[in-house]
Amino acid sequence: MSEMRKKVVYQIYPKSFKDSDGNGIGDLRGVIEKLPYLDKLGVDLLWMNPFFTSPQKDNGYDIANYTEIDPLFGTMEDFEELVEKAREKGMEIMLDMVLNHTSIEHEWFQKALAGDKKYQDYYILREPKPDGSLPTNWVSKFGGPAWAPFGDTGKYYLHLYDVSQADLNWHNPNVRKELYQVVNYWLDKGVAGLRFDVINVIGKDEELKDAADGIGKYLYTDRPIAHTFIHELNQETFGKGDREIMTVGEMSSTTVENGILYSDPKNQELSMIFSFHHLKVDYLNGEKWSHIPFDFMKLKYILDDWQDGMSKGNGWNALFWNNHDQPRANSRFGDPEHYPFETATMLAQTVHLLRGTPYVYQGEEIGMTNPDFMDMQDYVDVETLNAYKELSEQGVEHEEVMEIIKSKSRDTSRTPMQWSAEKNAGFTTGKPWIKPAENFHYINVEEELQKKEHSIFNYYQKLIALRKEYKVISEGSYLGILMDHPSVYAYIREYEGEELLVFNHFYKEPVVVEIPKAYQERQGQYLIGNGEERALGSTLTLGPYETVAYYFDKK
Ligand code: GLC
Repeated sequence: MSEMRKKVVYQIYPKSFKDSDGNGIGDLRGVIEKLPYLDKLGVDLLWMNPFFTSPQKDNGYDIANYTEIDPLFGTMEDFEELVEKAREKGMEIMLDMVLNHTSIEHEWFQKALAGDKKYQDYYILREPKPDGSLPTNWVSKFGGPAWAPFGDTGKYYLHLYDVSQADLNWHNPNVRKELYQVVNYWLDKGVAGLRFDVINVIGKDEELKDAADGIGKYLYTDRPIAHTFIHELNQETFGKGDREIMTVGEMSSTTVENGILYSDPKNQELSMIFSFHHLKVDYLNGEKWSHIPFDFMKLKYILDDWQDGMSKGNGWNALFWNNHDQPRANSRFGDPEHYPFETATMLAQTVHLLRGTPYVYQGEEIGMTNPDFMDMQDYVDVETLNAYKELSEQGVEHEEVMEIIKSKSRDTSRTPMQWSAEKNAGFTTGKPWIKPAENFHYINVEEELQKKEHSIFNYYQKLIALRKEYKVISEGSYLGILMDHPSVYAYIREYEGEELLVFNHFYKEPVVVEIPKAYQERQGQYLIGNGEERALGSTLTLGPYETVAYYFDKK
């Protein structure tokens, strides 16, 4: 356990990381090529988004064959080489397991459509209501109803996501057995980490009902049966044997209470969970497709609640700002135009020094931002295209629609990794599947690695190394302080008498904070910060987006 807590995960979105063959799509050989770069950063696991055979309707989250590699990304030999070469450098691979649904092009769905009863029971098929309307009033997370006609049978199949992603029937023991085989297949290939996609929605009730809210989330999220299924998954796959496998569940709209159940080691479910509440603080009345400044106090209280609750209940958080579904945090919570270094490092430090396991999403470590795409032609993502249609149909002005999409589309974080100032950011010699952000001319790896000062990359390197060195970071308890402060998120970590005092300032105007009495007389060591190194007095003045951590040895 304690070794696991020292680790940091780096997320690779293979499609946009590095293209080795010039077809405009990133691939496994591209990842192999960049292993020395990842090694230099010091990360331990590489979580890779799905690269299995897929029609790519939802960029690989619509899987047509779980144990084959899509030729777009390479071959099984490439994958085996990647596992081996990464391991030589002390890194392990974490794969993305999408077990809630398959693509409708999956053999199981195709057989079901052709009339095979066995496979029909692999999916969630229902008759329409007696009045001919859909089986329930549930809404798909990508917009529109969650039901689609199942061929010409008169029945409907459930799809909580895109219409091309049919939900699997986890109540069927054969389905579970097949999925466990998939997981074991990859474990046998030497994978040491598993990320489970939307795993807290696998437990639907057997009898499906209309939702009182007309959406349905509460009827299929975090059901007790989901815990039963996840425990069984653990026992049948990664929990067997003596290898320590790191697992993380992506939990849609979960609660601290459930977060604890999923990740408390005694329950034998998962090592940790992703929760997303802290990334909904710029939603207007809970609506993602809106464009408003983020609510700092809300952000801070959410982070504090999760830290405090998970710590008390012996749960474990995945710590992150960015991933392939989220806009870039720099653009969202900071000022990357005027304070690129301060913004990126402050955000990094805020989560890296918390209790949990940090995840770095490709490009974060060089300060990548959202692109400036104002033309629908530049967007690819199915959720974005649906949102465009819906917003336009609601009569929202075109300019406004584009502003919303520019700030929230999942494509904002899927633009190519910016390797250099060369054509296409050095990502491909061909035509990239999605355009790079305009700022690759000055925000790129080559440029970043040459910097003598104000290097975001070096700062990440240092944060990652500190977690390995200081138990107060990897193991310490958590206590939020200055909770009423309107622009600073501060906290104390403690481990066997060692303490860490961390201040993160989320705005530009300088502020003065009072230092808690107990720390004023003790000689705190300036451990890491993005401003000027200085001793701690009775107050501390924090500059724009400043972050700083003081370390206190045992009393
Ligand atoms: C998760 C993935 C997302 C995908 C969805 C459906 O939220 O991160 O990219 O679209 O699941 O599989």
